[in-house]
Amino acid sequence: MTAAPDVVTGRHVLLVVSGGIAAYKAASLARALLRGGATVQALLTPAAATFIGPATFEGLTGRTVPTDVFSDSDHVPHIHLARQADVAVFAPATANLIAKLAVGIADDLVTSTALMLDCPVVIAPAMHTEMWRHDVTQANIATLRHRGAHIVGPDDGPLAAGDTGEGRLADEDAIVAAVAAAIAPSTSPLTGRRVIVSAGGTREPIDPVRYIGNRSSGKMGYALARQAARRGADVDLVTAPTHLDDPVGVRLHRVETAEQMRTTIMDLVADAEVVIKAAAVADFRPARYSGQKIKKDSDELTRIELVRNRDILAELGENKDGRLLVGFAAETDLAEDHARDKLHRKGLDLIVVNRVDMADAGFNVDTNRAVLLRAEGGRREVPLTTKDQLAAVVCDEVEELLAQR
Ligand code: CTP
Repeated sequence: MTAAPDVVTGRHVLLVVSGGIAAYKAASLARALLRGGATVQALLTPAAATFIGPATFEGLTGRTVPTDVFSDSDHVPHIHLARQADVAVFAPATANLIAKLAVGIADDLVTSTALMLDCPVVIAPAMHTEMWRHDVTQANIATLRHRGAHIVGPDDGPLAAGDTGEGRLADEDAIVAAVAAAIAPSTSPLTGRRVIVSAGGTREPIDPVRYIGNRSSGKMGYALARQAARRGADVDLVTAPTHLDDPVGVRLHRVETAEQMRTTIMDLVADAEVVIKAAAVADFRPARYSGQKIKKDSDELTRIELVRNRDILAELGENKDGRLLVGFAAETDLAEDHARDKLHRKGLDLIVVNRVDMADAGFNVDTNRAVLLRAEGGRREVPLTTKDQLAAVVCDEVEELLAQR
Protein backbone atom coordinates (compact mmCIF):
# COMPACT_ATOMS: atom_id res chain seq x y z
CA MET A 1 0.00 0.00 0.00
CA THR A 2 1.27 3.50 -0.65
CA ALA A 3 0.79 6.64 1.35
CA ALA A 4 -1.25 9.49 -0.07
CA PRO A 5 0.65 12.57 1.05
CA ASP A 6 -1.28 14.97 -1.18
CA VAL A 7 -4.44 14.24 0.80
CA VAL A 8 -2.87 14.72 4.25
CA THR A 9 -1.03 17.90 3.28
CA GLY A 10 -2.16 20.79 5.43
CA ARG A 11 -4.45 18.59 7.51
CA HIS A 12 -4.36 18.49 11.28
CA VAL A 13 -4.01 14.93 12.53
CA LEU A 14 -4.71 14.01 16.14
CA LEU A 15 -2.51 10.98 16.84
CA VAL A 16 -3.68 9.08 19.91
CA VAL A 17 -1.24 6.53 21.26
CA SER A 18 -2.30 3.92 23.80
CA GLY A 19 -0.27 1.57 25.94
CA GLY A 20 1.08 -1.43 24.08
CA ILE A 21 4.53 -2.43 22.95
CA ALA A 22 3.67 -1.11 19.45
CA ALA A 23 3.53 2.41 20.96
CA TYR A 24 7.12 2.96 19.86
CA LYS A 25 5.98 2.65 16.22
CA ALA A 26 3.70 5.66 16.67
CA ALA A 27 6.76 7.93 16.62
CA SER A 28 7.61 6.72 13.13
CA LEU A 29 3.94 7.08 12.12
CA ALA A 30 4.01 10.70 13.34
CA ARG A 31 7.06 11.30 11.14
CA ALA A 32 5.38 9.73 8.10
CA LEU A 33 2.33 11.99 8.55
CA LEU A 34 4.57 15.03 9.01
CA ARG A 35 6.50 14.07 5.86
CA GLY A 36 3.16 13.99 4.03
CA GLY A 37 2.64 17.63 5.02
CA ALA A 38 0.23 17.15 7.93
CA THR A 39 0.46 18.84 11.30
CA VAL A 40 0.40 16.25 14.04
CA GLN A 41 -0.85 16.62 17.59
CA ALA A 42 0.12 13.62 19.69
CA LEU A 43 -1.84 12.52 22.74
CA LEU A 44 -0.75 9.67 25.00
CA THR A 45 -2.71 7.56 27.42
CA PRO A 46 -0.97 7.19 30.79
CA ALA A 47 -0.07 3.60 29.82
CA ALA A 48 1.40 4.76 26.49
CA ALA A 49 3.61 7.17 28.38
CA THR A 50 5.22 4.20 30.13
CA PHE A 51 6.27 2.82 26.73
CA ILE A 52 7.27 6.06 24.99
CA GLY A 53 7.60 9.54 26.44
CA PRO A 54 5.83 12.76 25.45
CA ALA A 55 9.24 14.34 24.80
CA THR A 56 9.72 12.10 21.75
CA PHE A 57 6.50 13.35 20.17
CA GLU A 58 7.10 16.93 21.22
CA GLY A 59 10.51 16.77 19.55
CA LEU A 60 9.07 15.30 16.36
CA THR A 61 5.90 17.36 16.04
CA GLY A 62 6.98 20.64 17.63
CA ARG A 63 3.80 20.55 19.71
CA THR A 64 3.31 20.11 23.43
CA VAL A 65 1.72 16.81 24.38
CA PRO A 66 -0.92 17.64 27.00
CA THR A 67 -1.56 15.00 29.62
CA ASP A 68 -4.27 16.35 31.86
CA VAL A 69 -7.89 17.45 31.31
CA PHE A 70 -7.46 20.09 33.99
CA SER A 71 -4.07 21.47 32.91
CA ASP A 72 -5.35 24.57 31.13
CA SER A 73 -8.70 26.04 32.16
CA ASP A 74 -8.49 28.77 29.49
CA HIS A 75 -8.46 26.32 26.60
CA VAL A 76 -10.12 23.24 28.14
CA PRO A 77 -7.73 20.81 26.43
CA HIS A 78 -10.14 18.06 25.36
CA ILE A 79 -12.47 20.52 23.62
CA HIS A 80 -9.64 22.36 21.95
CA LEU A 81 -7.83 19.19 20.83
CA ALA A 82 -10.96 17.63 19.35
CA ARG A 83 -12.12 20.75 17.50
CA GLN A 84 -8.73 21.27 15.88
CA ALA A 85 -8.60 17.78 14.39
CA ASP A 86 -9.37 17.08 10.72
CA VAL A 87 -8.86 13.39 11.40
CA ALA A 88 -8.04 11.33 14.51
CA VAL A 89 -5.92 8.21 14.37
CA PHE A 90 -5.69 5.83 17.31
CA ALA A 91 -2.46 3.89 16.80
CA PRO A 92 -1.82 1.59 18.47
CA ALA A 93 -5.32 1.14 19.93
CA THR A 94 -5.38 -1.34 22.80
CA ALA A 95 -8.38 -3.54 23.63
CA ASN A 96 -8.99 -1.31 26.66
CA LEU A 97 -9.03 1.91 24.65
CA ILE A 98 -11.25 0.30 21.99
CA ALA A 99 -13.70 -0.78 24.71
CA LYS A 100 -13.78 2.74 26.16
CA LEU A 101 -14.33 4.27 22.73
CA ALA A 102 -17.14 1.81 21.97
CA VAL A 103 -19.12 2.63 25.12
CA GLY A 104 -18.16 6.30 25.44
CA ILE A 105 -16.19 6.31 28.67
CA ALA A 106 -14.55 9.69 29.19
CA ASP A 107 -12.38 9.34 32.27
CA ASP A 108 -9.13 10.95 31.12
CA LEU A 109 -7.85 13.42 28.53
CA VAL A 110 -7.67 10.85 25.69
CA THR A 111 -11.16 9.44 26.12
CA SER A 112 -12.75 12.83 26.87
CA THR A 113 -11.19 14.17 23.67
CA ALA A 114 -12.39 11.10 21.75
CA LEU A 115 -15.97 11.73 22.86
CA MET A 116 -15.72 15.29 21.56
CA LEU A 117 -14.52 14.30 18.08
CA ASP A 118 -16.56 15.31 15.09
CA CYS A 119 -14.10 14.22 12.41
CA PRO A 120 -13.20 10.95 10.65
CA VAL A 121 -11.65 8.38 12.97
CA VAL A 122 -9.06 5.73 12.12
CA ILE A 123 -8.38 2.93 14.58
CA ALA A 124 -5.33 0.68 14.28
CA PRO A 125 -5.74 -2.06 16.89
CA ALA A 126 -2.74 -3.86 18.35
CA MET A 127 -2.96 -6.52 21.03
CA HIS A 128 -2.50 -10.20 21.67
CA THR A 129 -4.47 -12.55 19.41
CA GLU A 130 -6.71 -13.79 22.21
CA MET A 131 -7.71 -10.24 23.13
CA TRP A 132 -8.37 -9.34 19.49
CA ARG A 133 -10.45 -12.44 18.84
CA HIS A 134 -12.41 -12.08 22.08
CA ASP A 135 -16.14 -11.65 21.43
CA VAL A 136 -16.15 -8.42 23.45
CA THR A 137 -13.39 -6.85 21.36
CA GLN A 138 -15.02 -7.99 18.13
CA ALA A 139 -18.37 -6.56 19.27
CA ASN A 140 -16.67 -3.27 20.19
CA ILE A 141 -14.95 -3.11 16.81
CA ALA A 142 -18.27 -3.83 15.06
CA THR A 143 -19.86 -0.98 17.06
CA LEU A 144 -17.10 1.45 16.14
CA ARG A 145 -17.15 0.39 12.49
CA HIS A 146 -20.92 0.79 12.42
CA ARG A 147 -20.43 4.30 13.79
CA GLY A 148 -18.15 5.06 10.84
CA ALA A 149 -14.67 4.43 12.23
CA HIS A 150 -12.10 3.15 9.75
CA ILE A 151 -10.44 0.06 11.18
CA VAL A 152 -6.99 -0.76 9.82
CA GLY A 153 -5.39 -4.10 10.68
CA PRO A 154 -4.39 -5.77 12.84
CA ASP A 155 -1.94 -7.87 10.86
CA ASP A 156 -0.54 -11.30 11.45
CA GLY A 157 3.00 -11.41 12.77
CA PRO A 158 5.29 -11.33 15.79
CA LEU A 159 3.64 -10.03 18.98
CA ALA A 160 4.89 -9.24 22.49
CA ALA A 161 6.34 -12.00 24.68
CA GLY A 162 7.66 -13.99 21.72
CA ASP A 163 4.20 -14.91 20.43
CA THR A 164 3.09 -14.76 16.81
CA GLY A 165 -0.43 -14.27 15.46
CA GLU A 166 -3.14 -11.82 14.50
CA GLY A 167 -2.93 -8.63 16.54
CA ARG A 168 0.14 -6.87 15.22
CA LEU A 169 -0.19 -3.16 14.48
CA ALA A 170 -0.87 -2.58 10.76
CA ASP A 171 2.03 -1.35 8.63
CA GLU A 172 2.78 2.34 8.73
CA ASP A 173 1.92 2.74 5.04
CA ALA A 174 -1.44 1.06 5.59
CA ILE A 175 -2.24 3.40 8.49
CA VAL A 176 -1.23 6.50 6.52
CA ALA A 177 -3.33 5.26 3.57
CA ALA A 178 -6.28 4.71 5.94
CA VAL A 179 -5.87 8.25 7.28
CA ALA A 180 -5.82 9.58 3.72
CA ALA A 181 -8.88 7.48 2.80
CA ALA A 182 -10.71 8.72 5.90
CA ILE A 183 -10.07 12.35 4.95
CA ALA A 184 -11.04 11.80 1.31
CA PRO A 185 -14.03 9.51 1.81
CA SER A 186 -14.43 6.51 -0.44
CA THR A 187 -15.92 7.23 -3.79
CA SER A 188 -16.35 3.51 -4.43
CA PRO A 189 -19.68 2.73 -6.06
CA LEU A 190 -19.81 -0.18 -3.60
CA THR A 191 -20.07 2.14 -0.61
CA GLY A 192 -23.33 1.58 1.19
CA ARG A 193 -24.49 -1.14 -1.25
CA ARG A 194 -25.91 -4.40 0.03
CA VAL A 195 -23.73 -7.21 -1.28
CA ILE A 196 -24.22 -10.95 -0.84
CA VAL A 197 -21.16 -13.17 -1.18
CA SER A 198 -21.40 -16.97 -1.06
CA ALA A 199 -18.39 -19.07 -0.11
CA GLY A 200 -17.19 -22.57 0.69
CA GLY A 201 -18.26 -25.97 -0.53
CA THR A 202 -21.70 -27.27 0.38
CA ARG A 203 -22.12 -30.65 2.06
CA GLU A 204 -24.95 -32.96 1.09
CA PRO A 205 -25.59 -35.46 3.89
CA ILE A 206 -25.99 -39.19 3.26
CA ASP A 207 -26.41 -40.09 6.93
CA PRO A 208 -25.39 -38.44 10.23
CA VAL A 209 -21.73 -39.29 9.52
CA ARG A 210 -21.21 -39.15 5.76
CA TYR A 211 -21.74 -36.46 3.19
CA ILE A 212 -20.95 -35.63 -0.42
CA GLY A 213 -18.71 -32.59 -0.54
CA ASN A 214 -16.08 -30.84 -2.60
CA ARG A 215 -12.64 -29.38 -2.11
CA SER A 216 -13.52 -25.69 -1.86
CA SER A 217 -11.74 -23.99 1.07
CA GLY A 218 -13.86 -20.81 1.02
CA LYS A 219 -10.75 -18.62 0.73
CA MET A 220 -11.83 -16.86 -2.47
CA GLY A 221 -15.30 -16.02 -1.13
CA TYR A 222 -13.94 -14.79 2.20
CA ALA A 223 -11.39 -12.61 0.38
CA LEU A 224 -14.24 -11.14 -1.72
CA ALA A 225 -16.38 -10.44 1.35
CA ARG A 226 -13.47 -8.70 3.10
CA GLN A 227 -12.61 -6.67 0.01
CA ALA A 228 -16.20 -5.52 -0.58
CA ALA A 229 -16.53 -4.56 3.11
CA ARG A 230 -13.28 -2.62 2.93
CA ARG A 231 -14.79 -0.60 0.08
CA GLY A 232 -17.74 0.32 2.23
CA ALA A 233 -20.24 -2.32 1.10
CA ASP A 234 -22.75 -3.76 3.54
CA VAL A 235 -21.88 -7.45 3.19
CA ASP A 236 -23.77 -10.67 3.94
CA LEU A 237 -21.45 -13.66 3.65
CA VAL A 238 -23.36 -16.91 3.20
CA THR A 239 -20.88 -19.65 3.86
CA ALA A 240 -20.79 -23.41 3.69
CA PRO A 241 -18.41 -24.98 6.26
CA THR A 242 -14.80 -23.73 6.12
CA HIS A 243 -11.82 -23.71 8.47
CA LEU A 244 -11.34 -19.96 8.08
CA ASP A 245 -11.54 -17.27 10.75
CA ASP A 246 -14.71 -15.17 10.69
CA PRO A 247 -14.03 -12.03 8.66
CA VAL A 248 -14.51 -8.82 10.62
CA GLY A 249 -17.14 -6.33 9.49
CA VAL A 250 -19.46 -8.64 7.56
CA ARG A 251 -22.62 -10.49 8.57
CA LEU A 252 -21.96 -14.21 8.54
CA HIS A 253 -24.65 -16.78 7.72
CA ARG A 254 -23.53 -20.37 8.16
CA VAL A 255 -25.16 -23.05 6.05
CA GLU A 256 -24.32 -26.62 5.18
CA THR A 257 -26.30 -27.82 2.17
CA ALA A 258 -27.04 -26.31 -1.23
CA GLU A 259 -30.70 -26.05 -0.30
CA GLN A 260 -29.88 -24.15 2.94
CA MET A 261 -27.62 -21.85 0.95
CA ARG A 262 -30.43 -21.26 -1.53
CA THR A 263 -33.01 -20.49 1.20
CA THR A 264 -30.63 -18.13 3.03
CA ILE A 265 -29.71 -16.24 -0.13
CA MET A 266 -33.34 -15.99 -1.26
CA ASP A 267 -34.27 -14.55 2.16
CA LEU A 268 -31.58 -11.88 1.86
CA VAL A 269 -31.72 -11.09 -1.83
CA ALA A 270 -34.60 -8.61 -1.93
CA ASP A 271 -32.34 -5.89 -0.44
CA ALA A 272 -29.18 -6.84 -2.31
CA GLU A 273 -27.77 -4.90 -5.24
CA VAL A 274 -24.85 -7.23 -5.94
CA VAL A 275 -24.56 -11.01 -5.56
CA ILE A 276 -21.16 -12.69 -5.92
CA LYS A 277 -21.42 -16.47 -5.96
CA ALA A 278 -18.00 -17.87 -5.19
CA ALA A 279 -19.39 -20.95 -3.42
CA ALA A 280 -18.87 -24.40 -4.88
CA VAL A 281 -22.45 -25.59 -4.70
CA ALA A 282 -23.06 -29.33 -4.99
CA ASP A 283 -24.97 -30.03 -8.19
CA PHE A 284 -26.54 -33.17 -6.70
CA ARG A 285 -27.65 -34.45 -3.32
CA PRO A 286 -28.58 -37.93 -2.10
CA ALA A 287 -32.24 -38.62 -2.87
CA ARG A 288 -32.71 -40.05 0.64
CA TYR A 289 -31.15 -39.09 3.94
CA SER A 290 -30.79 -41.87 6.47
CA GLY A 291 -31.35 -40.66 10.04
CA GLN A 292 -29.29 -43.64 11.25
CA LYS A 293 -25.69 -44.31 10.28
CA ILE A 294 -25.81 -46.75 7.36
CA LYS A 295 -23.91 -49.98 8.12
CA LYS A 296 -21.13 -50.66 5.66
CA ASP A 297 -22.36 -54.22 5.15
CA SER A 298 -25.71 -53.04 3.90
CA ASP A 299 -26.18 -52.59 0.14
CA GLU A 300 -27.33 -49.00 0.54
CA LEU A 301 -23.87 -47.48 0.20
CA THR A 302 -22.99 -49.28 -3.01
CA ARG A 303 -25.52 -47.25 -4.94
CA ILE A 304 -26.54 -43.79 -3.77
CA GLU A 305 -29.33 -42.31 -5.83
CA LEU A 306 -28.81 -38.61 -6.47
CA VAL A 307 -31.22 -35.82 -7.29
CA ARG A 308 -30.28 -32.51 -8.83
CA ASN A 309 -30.02 -29.39 -6.65
CA ARG A 310 -31.57 -26.22 -7.91
CA ASP A 311 -29.08 -23.84 -9.48
CA ILE A 312 -29.15 -20.81 -7.19
CA LEU A 313 -27.33 -18.57 -9.61
CA ALA A 314 -29.59 -19.46 -12.53
CA GLU A 315 -32.62 -18.76 -10.35
CA LEU A 316 -31.18 -15.37 -9.37
CA GLY A 317 -30.53 -14.71 -13.06
CA GLU A 318 -34.19 -15.35 -13.89
CA ASN A 319 -35.34 -12.73 -11.35
CA LYS A 320 -32.57 -10.17 -11.51
CA ASP A 321 -34.57 -7.16 -10.48
CA GLY A 322 -31.68 -4.88 -11.52
CA ARG A 323 -29.14 -6.76 -9.43
CA LEU A 324 -25.59 -7.26 -10.55
CA LEU A 325 -24.75 -10.97 -10.67
CA VAL A 326 -21.24 -12.40 -10.54
CA GLY A 327 -20.66 -16.12 -10.97
CA PHE A 328 -17.62 -18.36 -10.83
CA ALA A 329 -16.72 -21.18 -13.16
CA ALA A 330 -14.30 -23.75 -11.87
CA GLU A 331 -12.42 -25.16 -14.81
CA THR A 332 -9.53 -27.51 -15.40
CA ASP A 333 -8.61 -25.48 -18.45
CA LEU A 334 -9.52 -21.88 -19.23
CA ALA A 335 -12.46 -23.00 -21.35
CA GLU A 336 -13.74 -19.56 -22.19
CA ASP A 337 -16.39 -20.62 -24.69
CA HIS A 338 -17.96 -22.85 -22.10
CA ALA A 339 -17.78 -20.06 -19.50
CA ARG A 340 -19.23 -17.46 -21.86
CA ASP A 341 -22.10 -19.81 -22.56
CA LYS A 342 -22.65 -20.18 -18.78
CA LEU A 343 -22.50 -16.37 -18.38
CA HIS A 344 -25.40 -15.91 -20.82
CA ARG A 345 -27.33 -19.01 -19.78
CA LYS A 346 -27.42 -17.92 -16.11
CA GLY A 347 -28.07 -14.22 -16.82
CA LEU A 348 -24.78 -13.06 -15.25
CA ASP A 349 -23.06 -9.69 -15.64
CA LEU A 350 -19.62 -11.10 -14.94
CA ILE A 351 -18.09 -14.55 -14.70
CA VAL A 352 -14.76 -15.38 -13.10
CA VAL A 353 -13.23 -18.39 -14.79
CA ASN A 354 -10.65 -19.84 -12.47
CA ARG A 355 -8.32 -22.77 -12.67
CA VAL A 356 -8.77 -25.46 -10.07
CA ASP A 357 -6.32 -28.06 -11.29
CA MET A 358 -2.94 -26.51 -10.57
CA ALA A 359 -0.68 -26.53 -7.52
CA ASP A 360 -0.82 -22.72 -7.29
CA ALA A 361 -4.45 -22.12 -8.26
CA GLY A 362 -7.87 -23.25 -7.08
CA PHE A 363 -8.73 -25.25 -4.01
CA ASN A 364 -7.06 -24.68 -0.67
CA VAL A 365 -4.20 -22.47 -1.82
CA ASP A 366 -3.81 -18.73 -1.31
CA THR A 367 -3.17 -17.95 -4.98
CA ASN A 368 -5.26 -18.14 -8.12
CA ARG A 369 -5.29 -17.27 -11.80
CA ALA A 370 -8.40 -16.30 -13.69
CA VAL A 371 -10.09 -14.75 -16.68
CA LEU A 372 -12.97 -12.34 -16.08
CA LEU A 373 -15.62 -12.18 -18.79
CA ARG A 374 -18.29 -9.50 -18.93
CA ALA A 375 -21.73 -10.07 -20.43
CA GLU A 376 -21.27 -7.27 -22.93
CA GLY A 377 -18.03 -8.82 -24.17
CA GLY A 378 -15.18 -7.44 -22.02
CA ARG A 379 -12.34 -9.79 -21.09
CA ARG A 380 -9.65 -9.36 -18.44
CA GLU A 381 -6.93 -11.89 -17.72
CA VAL A 382 -5.51 -12.06 -14.21
CA PRO A 383 -2.20 -13.94 -14.08
CA LEU A 384 -1.09 -15.79 -10.95
CA THR A 385 -1.90 -13.63 -7.95
CA THR A 386 -3.13 -13.86 -4.37
CA LYS A 387 -6.80 -14.51 -3.77
CA ASP A 388 -6.91 -11.15 -1.96
CA GLN A 389 -5.64 -9.41 -5.08
CA LEU A 390 -7.98 -11.34 -7.35
CA ALA A 391 -10.82 -10.28 -5.02
CA ALA A 392 -9.69 -6.66 -5.49
CA VAL A 393 -9.79 -7.07 -9.29
CA VAL A 394 -13.28 -8.62 -9.13
CA CYS A 395 -14.44 -5.71 -6.94
CA ASP A 396 -12.85 -3.22 -9.41
CA GLU A 397 -14.90 -4.83 -12.20
CA VAL A 398 -18.07 -4.72 -10.06
CA GLU A 399 -17.41 -1.04 -9.33
CA GLU A 400 -17.01 -0.29 -13.03
CA LEU A 401 -20.21 -2.15 -13.89
CA LEU A 402 -22.12 -0.31 -11.13
CA ALA A 403 -20.71 3.03 -12.26
CA GLN A 404 -21.94 2.38 -15.83
CA ARG A 405 -25.54 2.05 -14.68
N1 CTP B 1 -24.02 -22.47 -8.59
C1 CTP B 1 -25.18 -22.21 -7.91
N2 CTP B 1 -26.04 -23.21 -7.60
C2 CTP B 1 -25.79 -24.48 -7.98
C3 CTP B 1 -24.62 -24.77 -8.68
C4 CTP B 1 -23.74 -23.74 -8.97
O1 CTP B 1 -25.43 -21.05 -7.58
N3 CTP B 1 -26.65 -25.43 -7.65
C5 CTP B 1 -23.11 -21.36 -8.91
C6 CTP B 1 -21.77 -21.37 -8.19
O2 CTP B 1 -21.81 -20.65 -6.98
C7 CTP B 1 -20.84 -20.74 -9.21
C8 CTP B 1 -21.42 -21.17 -10.53
O3 CTP B 1 -22.79 -21.45 -10.27
O4 CTP B 1 -20.90 -19.32 -9.17
C9 CTP B 1 -20.78 -22.42 -11.05
O5 CTP B 1 -21.58 -22.89 -12.08
P1 CTP B 1 -21.71 -24.40 -12.52
O6 CTP B 1 -22.72 -24.42 -13.62
O7 CTP B 1 -21.92 -25.31 -11.38
O8 CTP B 1 -20.35 -24.58 -13.14
P2 CTP B 1 -19.18 -25.48 -12.80
O9 CTP B 1 -19.14 -25.83 -11.34
O10 CTP B 1 -18.04 -24.73 -13.33
O11 CTP B 1 -19.57 -26.82 -13.55
P3 CTP B 1 -19.90 -27.21 -15.08
O12 CTP B 1 -18.75 -26.69 -15.87
O13 CTP B 1 -19.99 -28.66 -14.99
O14 CTP B 1 -21.20 -26.55 -15.45
